[in-house]
Amino acid sequence: MENLISLVNKLQRACTALGDHGEATSLPTLWDSLPSIAVVGGQSSGKSSVLESVVGKDFLPRGSGIVTRRPLVLQLHKIDKGKEYAEFLHRQSEKFYDFVAVRKEISDETDRETGQTKQISSVPIHLSIYSPNVVNLTLVDLPGLTKVAVDGQSEGIVQEIENMVRAYIQKPNCIILAISPANQDLATSDAIKMSREVDPTGERTIGVLTKIDLMDKGTNAVDILEGRTYQLKFPWIGIVNRSQEDINKRREYFSTSREYKHLASRLGSEYLAKMLSKHLEDVIKSRIPGIQSLINKTISDLETELSHLGKPISTDAGGKLLLIMDICRAFDQIYKEHLDGIRSGGDT
Ligand code: GDP
Ligand code: NA
Ligand code: MG
Repeated sequence: MENLISLVNKLQRACTALGDHGEATSLPTLWDSLPSIAVVGGQSSGKSSVLESVVGKDFLPRGSGIVTRRPLVLQLHKIDKGKEYAEFLHRQSEKFYDFVAVRKEISDETDRETGQTKQISSVPIHLSIYSPNVVNLTLVDLPGLTKVAVDGQSEGIVQEIENMVRAYIQKPNCIILAISPANQDLATSDAIKMSREVDPTGERTIGVLTKIDLMDKGTNAVDILEGRTYQLKFPWIGIVNRSQEDINKRREYFSTSREYKHLASRLGSEYLAKMLSKHLEDVIKSRIPGIQSLINKTISDLETELSHLGKPISTDAGGKLLLIMDICRAFDQIYKEHLDGIRSGGDT
């Protein structure tokens, strides 16, 4: 049986191809029905570093100022063996083996949409990474929350970023990965402020604490990690990102520390990745009926659109619509098999 996360990945790509990418609209769209994990936090809170730790590769554009100016839908696909590579939806069937080129393409594609004016756009970039070293997982990287506009950006950009982030994370199917740095007061964390606003009970917020190694001497993060400072439904996850540092060293940071030893099994980026993958799959399972009904609606809309195009269908548009219908039907099929599995008790 094809993995549910990879099917939702296909649907997300299909939605983007159809121009449905989670813009604030009055009607629920298929995109809205698809569970996703969005990464939220203030500038320099460690978002890019967390994503790179989860992937185990450096591939995101870096720099000061507002680097992430479009959502990046990052789809991780576990492969059995072989060399890892990346693909972009906008450069279909082109495999990138060089992750320096991936970083450059993200940055170039950001500029293509925003015209190098350093403005922001809610049209996402879709990047897939195929690797034996990842878990199946999809994460949406959003622009960092900031307080001041820099280098020629209009004053409005601060508010625009906030609005875009809010539009994403207020959707009930969005799992919020809220990144806060441990070397700042949690009460001032942009990630916590924003997630509390849209998810006051903390039901769909996963708190990640970065920069634990940069805390003042004599202080530690145990109260936060154990949920006494700000309680969420899920346990907090502590991370130490140090660029290029190998995974073993990071694992050692917690397991050899007197303060964190007792929590070491649920800290670090490997634990984060596995936990997110499992959680995303659980949420997708629980949302299948909603996805199902929007898929049925999408199929019938597409059929109407196709009938307007006329037959036989030879145009690109027709081909694209047929492909999307195929994906929807595949999801339908898997969903039914999944339900049969539950009924026959085979899904344990
Ligand atoms: P973003 O703006 O939220 O994407 O933040 P980045 O991931 O780019 O991180 C900002 C800076 O903080 C970079 O120089 C990172 O190397 C550094 N950084 C991020 N996480 C940690 C951490 O856990 N420990 C330490 N020492 N530095 C970190
Ligand atoms: Na923050
Ligand atoms: Mg970043």
